[in-house]
Amino acid sequence: MSRHAEITISSRNADTCAQARHLLSEFGDVRAIPADLSRHDECQRLADLVEVDSERLDILINNAGAMWREPLETFPDEAWDSVIDLNIKSPFWLVQALLPALCGAGTADDPARIINIGSIAAIHVAESPNYSYASSKAALHQLTRVFARELGPRHVTVNAVAPGPFPSQMMASTLDAIGDTIAAKAPLRRLGRHDDMAGTAVFLASRAGSYLTGTIIPVDGGIATTATGT
Ligand SMILES: NC(=O)c1ccc[n+]([C@@H]2O[C@H](COP(=O)([O-])OP(=O)(O)OC[C@H]3O[C@@H](n4cnc5c(N)ncnc54)[C@H](OP(=O)(O)O)[C@@H]3O)[C@@H](O)[C@H]2O)c1
Repeated sequence: MSRHAEITISSRNADTCAQARHLLSEFGDVRAIPADLSRHDECQRLADLVEVDSERLDILINNAGAMWREPLETFPDEAWDSVIDLNIKSPFWLVQALLPALCGAGTADDPARIINIGSIAAIHVAESPNYSYASSKAALHQLTRVFARELGPRHVTVNAVAPGPFPSQMMASTLDAIGDTIAAKAPLRRLGRHDDMAGTAVFLASRAGSYLTGTIIPVDGGIATTATGT
């Protein structure tokens, strides 16, 4: 039996929210709520708006993320605060605020799902260092396990996906410059595709993923999972 999906998406930019809403609308009822999720009050506002419409939430995907690349010598305070706020505090705040709705949806046979988007930057050490980003994603992977232990008995699974290189706004300049080299060095000899990420999220959200919790799933063509350290 298929259920009609009710989806809420969020990011800061109202125009991109509206565009994404339009693209996704063929799959269900989509609501777009612009919010700056690096702020605690904005996470709470988003959660309140989600809960106004429904007291149950089946799936929470913490995807928003930011990266800051700068040499060690000039790496500024702000590059810690902004990245940590969005990449690690925000998923915590959203889980905290949405927990009643997640617990309201989950059952022993069909738990609610939290899917955190981590990174292989927290599994191996990338050639170009990104201090706050890699650290924040390592924290998110561990928070995933901490939440998994606590929320399992409340019928909520918590897993993370750790992507390798995928085309996106965040990765545009890197992939323009060295995308071919990265693909050529990857064991599977290509970059990630959108359906690679979508497939993993569908798996975690489906019946097939209902007995996994506390896992970190690298989706990276083997880049970090077979790293040699050289
Ligand atoms: N692409 C990759 O190769 C790769 C690899 C490993 C991990 N990841 C992770 O995948 C996730 C998605 O990244 P992406 O590659 O798709 O990059 P992206 O295109 O830059 O997407 C980042 C998203 O986060 C939103 N965002 C940024 N700051 C925000 C804020 N303060 N509040 C709310 N939303 C905010 C952005 O929208 P607005 O600008 O409208 O706010 C955008 O939708 C991130 O967690 C990233 O770390 C990506």
